[in-house]
Amino acid sequence: MEKITIAIDGFSSTGKSTVAKQLAKELGYVYVDTGAMYRAVTLFAMRKSYIDDDGFDKEGLVNDLSQIRLRFVFNPEAGFAEMYLNDENVEKEIRQMEVSRFVSQVAAVPQVREILVAQQQEMGREKGIVMDGRDIGTVVFPDAELKIFMTASAEERAQRRFKELQERGEEVTYAAVLENVQQRDELDTTRKDSPLVKAEDAIEIDNSHLTLAGQFEKILELYEGTK
Ligand code: C5P
Repeated sequence: MEKITIAIDGFSSTGKSTVAKQLAKELGYVYVDTGAMYRAVTLFAMRKSYIDDDGFDKEGLVNDLSQIRLRFVFNPEAGFAEMYLNDENVEKEIRQMEVSRFVSQVAAVPQVREILVAQQQEMGREKGIVMDGRDIGTVVFPDAELKIFMTASAEERAQRRFKELQERGEEVTYAAVLENVQQRDELDTTRKDSPLVKAEDAIEIDNSHLTLAGQFEKILELYEGTK
């Protein structure tokens, strides 16, 4: 059967990646988490002290962008691909709250987006891909055959994220996570370059009250509908 391109966009912590991974597995497609790429560039910027609480040296980062090599490497034990920054596995580090605090500022830099979008388009050249992010249905693959836009209330999303971070042993408060979710929503939807918006032809799924299984079933149905 002919393979298609599936774009899954939406706000942070809507469970996009969980459902996208599951879908890719079911269909035998490649899964790409574009948030991981923006996170890895952010980690690079943090390590070089281009970004911290005192400010952001965008020019410094932009001048160094050619030094960044991103790769996804499949980990058979985990069952998904992990993010490598210049040959170092940074999968765990990029998920930390520290990185979440700065990622939306880095993702708003047009030169960063230009490079990452080009890499994403290359990854999806042969279709058979499920890609999740913020601008997949609008900018990366405007011709994707299936576009999903996931939403849920900020409180619900913060609750999920808080639980996840706690399970990983990070010391955070629910209030700090909620604040981060709201700040990222604001930055992601108001930035000049490729703001987070629902593509006109995307199907919106509010999963505030949906179980994972219910949500997956719904998306699978939509996929069946594209045939
Ligand atoms: O998906 P995740 O929450 O890991 O993404 C982290 C951040 O990366 C987002 O808050 C957003 O600022 C940025 N991002 C983006 N475009 C994408 C994917 C992520 O701007 N396609």
